[in-house]
Amino acid sequence: MTPRDVALDMARRIEPSGGRETVVDPGAGEGSLLLAAAETILSRAPGTELDLFGVELDPKLAAVASAALSSVEATRTEIVVDDFLATHQDAVSRAAHALESASVVIANPPYGGGREYDFFASCNQRCPPGTQLIFLLPLEFVDRVEGLSDVTPLTGRPLGVTTGHAIVRHLAGTPVTVRPIRETIRQGRFSVLTGVKLYELGGGSPKQTPDVIRSKPFSSTHPRLGWLPCVRTGDVQRDSVQLGRLWVEYGDHLAHPKDIARFSGPKVFVRRVPIWSERAIGAGYNDDTVLCAGDVLVVREPSDDADLLRGLSRWLNTRSAASLMHIRRPMLTRRDSFPKFSVKDLAAVLANAPPDDALHQLSNRPIAA
Ligand SMILES: C[S@@+](CC[C@H](N)C(=O)[O-])C[C@H]1O[C@@H](n2cnc3c(N)ncnc32)[C@H](O)[C@@H]1O
Repeated sequence: MTPRDVALDMARRIEPSGGRETVVDPGAGEGSLLLAAAETILSRAPGTELDLFGVELDPKLAAVASAALSSVEATRTEIVVDDFLATHQDAVSRAAHALESASVVIANPPYGGGREYDFFASCNQRCPPGTQLIFLLPLEFVDRVEGLSDVTPLTGRPLGVTTGHAIVRHLAGTPVTVRPIRETIRQGRFSVLTGVKLYELGGGSPKQTPDVIRSKPFSSTHPRLGWLPCVRTGDVQRDSVQLGRLWVEYGDHLAHPKDIARFSGPKVFVRRVPIWSERAIGAGYNDDTVLCAGDVLVVREPSDDADLLRGLSRWLNTRSAASLMHIRRPMLTRRDSFPKFSVKDLAAVLANAPPDDALHQLSNRPIAA
């Protein structure tokens, strides 16, 4: 759910017309965005005739939203329990009607599986031209979509997650182009794999309990017999991987242990938050059995060619690799918003890596200062 200060930050971007306003939230949750929008509009333009309309998949949340909005002096308030995306196939549904008369859409849509793109595209296409669309979106969305009217990246971690967010204010009908969401990256010589997730409520076997999450029994800053080193972002510097700051008892009790094979043998660890102060992505070669956490990716090569991977690590630390990443993900330089790149971002950069013989040559070169 959107924290109150972020909801108000979004709402203050609404420019009230002074007449009638229809405000829509297509994934209304507990109604916090509609509430912030209503308060802002009524304080700036008292006497506004206000229609509040929300769609929410979860009936319990919808009931909370209805109760939260009951005190607002709106002309009409309606929270419909429905699937916003499915609703759109039904041209006569109430949600479709609300969108067709919307003057403001305020939304923090569900993320993942392309849903944030679908929510945004639906509103951009179906609302009358000029409707103010105020969305809270991941920075990755901002990097993918060209033509957005106004983007304000948020600093810090206001949503408590380690992915950067931005408030997007866009006028409906202004065309945008979206780089394909379910893009296929040409399968190259390398595979990019994710790290382990140590703790998550209900994750792992047996299922992790709140006590496990609190006491963190499977990780330690000191080595223990049979435990494995696990690297995190700060441990991966240009062509170096520092071990020994975190040790993990590997096994099914971890939230998402992943297959141990990816962590054994020749591999390159790549940090998902680049070292922009050095204009480098940040990659290091390693061939021991070493785990990495979710903020680090693992690059493997099918024949486990150690020299090739050493060369690849050198190349990944060059400015040309950093530029390729930067072109794809310009928002990564917003260090105060903590954006990370994804498996696909790295796979796309690797698709442009030099040929094998050039990487072999690079592997023999001394490490640049
Ligand atoms: C990130 S929450 C935001 C909730 C609220 N707008 C806020 O900002 O606090 C997204 C909400 O969208 C709802 N949701 C997810 N998929 C949906 C769909 N297809 N149609 C309608 N609501 C959906 C979820 O149940 C959740 O309450």
